[in-house]
Amino acid sequence: MSIVGIDKAALYSSHYAVELSTLASARGVDPDKYSVGLGLHTMAVSPPDEDIITLAANATAKLLEGESLTDIDTILFATESGIDQSKAAGIYIHRLFNLPKHCRTLELKQACYSATAGLQLGLSLLKDNPKRKILLIASDIARYGLNSSGEATQGAGAIAMLLTVNPRLVAIESGSGFVSEEAMDFWRPNYRDEALVDGKYSCELYLKLLRESFEEYSQVTGRVYADHQHFLYHIPFPRLAEKAHQKLMLCSLVSKLDSDSLSALLHPGFVYGRQIGNCYTASLYIGLLSLLEQHTQDLSGHRVGFYSYGSGACSEYFSGLIQPHYRKVLHASFHQALLAQRQILTYQEYEQFY
Ligand code: CAA
Repeated sequence: MSIVGIDKAALYSSHYAVELSTLASARGVDPDKYSVGLGLHTMAVSPPDEDIITLAANATAKLLEGESLTDIDTILFATESGIDQSKAAGIYIHRLFNLPKHCRTLELKQACYSATAGLQLGLSLLKDNPKRKILLIASDIARYGLNSSGEATQGAGAIAMLLTVNPRLVAIESGSGFVSEEAMDFWRPNYRDEALVDGKYSCELYLKLLRESFEEYSQVTGRVYADHQHFLYHIPFPRLAEKAHQKLMLCSLVSKLDSDSLSALLHPGFVYGRQIGNCYTASLYIGLLSLLEQHTQDLSGHRVGFYSYGSGACSEYFSGLIQPHYRKVLHASFHQALLAQRQILTYQEYEQFY
């Protein structure tokens, strides 16, 4: 059976950001609530002329540098901040990059989960024709509204990934656990620009579906907690992913880690998310790049557990094996420079952009 997975990936986020200490002082909130309570430092803020397509195009430009485009025959674009109810955002990417005429394009939606749906769909297409390459993009601008409870967990970013057989970055293993449950924890009806959210309930549901999808994953694959060296989560804010990991250990009857060990395990996957904020569909996969680029050890051969969650709700637990020589296809210095060179906004500028 062919090995399929993510061959390369590139990230892009806005050139502007606001420090959460600035937001805290504007809102009269203790800054530790955001930095400690949520685990966030900075959030990317899109200027008025940026949308999910320009974010995606920038990520794709980096991804496709030096790449032969002729075998790309599918574009899967995951987003929950789409700009059109009918036309797929990937059509613009197809034109901008002059991708082959014989290419199918599809936009996927199920809140933050849909990039994982795209990944699974893409991988099954690869098994059908191992020569093809699939462009999978996740791009979102997370908006909750000024002075809303979710305001500090906004963000903006895109990740572009190339799915192939014999991937160089991460091979995705077959077998996963998935769950659907109808709920109104977070949603954005057609007449609104900002999401509506029942924040506490959304966190409870995220944790409940983690247990249910991991149990199913374990049953299907026979893998248990100890079979994984790293754990990645959808990251609306890092503190929730930390709680999720504690819950996973509890359900797996694994002894609690002290806070230094927990941080050593999870922190490398949080480095980019802490600086960008929530990017909905892209967050889990930005966590993957963060782990691969920020971890100081060679992770070749290590197994990663992935928890994907999308409000509404649908979740999936699956795993991947980090490939030998993965470091050769990373763009670590590009990503670090992108984040380091952002313009930090004043509160007034943030509100004007909004
Ligand atoms: N120092 C340290 N910690 C502090 C603090 C201080 N001065 N003040 C507060 N805190 C802690 C609180 O104790 C709390 O931690 P615990 O949950 O561990 O108790 C944390 O900071 C947050 O404080 P509150 O619970 O009071 O914060 P809030 O109610 O104002 O907002 C939230 C939290 C409801 C999650 C809000 O950020 C929100 O609505 N976010 C959007 C929804 C969201 O992200 N949901 C996640 C699951 S849904 C999903 O995953 C899909 C998606 O991407 C949206």
